[in-house]
Amino acid sequence: TSVAAVIPAAGRGVRLGPGAPKALRALSGTPMLIHAVRALAASRHVALVVVVAPPDGAAEVKSLLDAHALPDRTDFLVVPGGESRQESVRLGLEALPPQYGIVLVHDAARPLVPVDTVDAVVEAVRDGAPAVVPALPLADTVKEVAPAAEAGEPEPVVATPERSRLRAVQTPQGFDRATLVRAHESVTENVTDDASMVEQLGLPVVAVPGHEEAFKVTRPLDLVLAEAVLARRRL
Ligand code: CTP
Ligand code: MG
Repeated sequence: TSVAAVIPAAGRGVRLGPGAPKALRALSGTPMLIHAVRALAASRHVALVVVVAPPDGAAEVKSLLDAHALPDRTDFLVVPGGESRQESVRLGLEALPPQYGIVLVHDAARPLVPVDTVDAVVEAVRDGAPAVVPALPLADTVKEVAPAAEAGEPEPVVATPERSRLRAVQTPQGFDRATLVRAHESVTENVTDDASMVEQLGLPVVAVPGHEEAFKVTRPLDLVLAEAVLARRRL
């Protein structure tokens, strides 16, 4: 069965600070979105990339993709996104032609994911998992807190989950298409990743090893790190 990638790229990038929508900002001279599309198209499995563009930026994204060559085996489509990441992914899924039975969902904000990570996710879905996430152990201990009594007061710590059992999850997340479509139809509250909607359906989700370079560009320091990774790759 064929594999398509949906790339939500419609966010503003508020945490990165003022400027163009995050996916259109340059990393070492090339828009972040182009790095992300190339990273997915580098996988021989991926035959179609659906980019979910900022609502007012679809034409600009289309011309960017026309201007940056992709491998001949990879087609692309551009659709306008929505108010939330979840809505943007749903709009991308609705644009998928019928022949794609496996869908990867990949943040444009993770422009440097290595191809081996993409392939590992696809292979786990091909091996029968309905949902697959790339995941890494945490460096920091994580604590659950309660709301502070008053704004500006310290937050009470209520629990410390055992770190060795926790994972930070990345993208691309891979899905059996019908499962992901059903998840998007039945889960209505807002979530920050697609696999959690599959968990809510009661279906199994499995984790494969993620990669440090698949980190999400979220805050200004992440831009510094991303450009350093690119510079190291060019050595
Ligand atoms: N995204 C999207 N549509 C939205 C919001 C987010 O397609 N309405 C995409 C972003 O473009 C990004 C991915 O979802 O590729 C992950 O989201 P995040 O890192 O939170 O990006 P932004 O929402 O743009 O950043 P911020 O939350 O700081 O505004
Ligand atoms: Mg966001």
